[in-house]
Amino acid sequence: MPDKKRVADSEVSLHQFMLPQHANPLGNVHGGIIMKLVDEAGGLCAMRHAQRPAVTIAIDSMTFHSPVHVGNLLTLKASIHYVGNTSMEVGVRVTAENPITGEQTHTNSARLVYVALDDNGRATKVPGLILENDTQRRRWDAAKERQAERLRREKE
Ligand SMILES: CC(C)(COP(=O)(O)OP(=O)(O)OC[C@H]1O[C@@H](n2cnc3c(N)ncnc32)[C@H](O)[C@@H]1OP(=O)(O)O)[C@@H](O)C(=O)NCCC(=O)NCCS
Repeated sequence: MPDKKRVADSEVSLHQFMLPQHANPLGNVHGGIIMKLVDEAGGLCAMRHAQRPAVTIAIDSMTFHSPVHVGNLLTLKASIHYVGNTSMEVGVRVTAENPITGEQTHTNSARLVYVALDDNGRATKVPGLILENDTQRRRWDAAKERQAERLRREKE
C-alpha cells in the first residue's frame, strides 16, 4: 500500500433511484434512507483510501436543505477531507435530480469520521493524503480543526 494517496484515488459517486418504498408518510423520501446512503458512500470512500475495512466513529453536520422526492435520482459524492493516524474525515454531498426536467437540487451535506481496522478489529494506520489544490488544503485545515474539537468534546 502507498504511504500517501491522492483525494481523487478514493472519491466515490453513488446513484440511487428513489422509489415509493423509500417514502415517509408525507410522500417524500425518509431522512433515514438518505442517512444510510450517506454513510455507505462515506464508508466506501474511507475503505478505498485505507484499503482496509472502515467503521463509522462520528457523524456531524448532517443537514437537510430541501426534501427529496420519490422519482428523483439521488447522487452522493464522497471525498476525503483529512486523515489522522487511523481516522479519516469524509465529506458527502447529496444532490437530487428530477430525471424528466433535469433540474438538480443540493439536498444534503454531511461530514463523517471513519476508523480503519486491522484483521483483529483494532484501529490501524491509514495512508497520508496528498493535497493537490487550494480547495483540498482548505478542507484539510478545517477538518483538522473539527477533529480536534470532536476529541476535546469526547474528553469532557
Ligand atoms: C473504531 C474503534 C475500533 C476505535 O477503537 P478505539 O480503541 O476507540 O481507538 P482509538 O482510541 O485509538 O481511536 C481511533 C481513532 O478514532 C479517533 N476518535 C476517537 N474518538 C473519536 C470521536 N468521538 N470522533 C472522531 N474521532 C474519534 C481517534 O482520534 C483515533 O484517530 P487517529 O488515530 O487518527 O488519531 C472502536 O471505537 C469501535 O469499534 N467503535 C464502533 C464502530 C462502529 O460500530 N460503528 C458503527 C457501525 S460501522
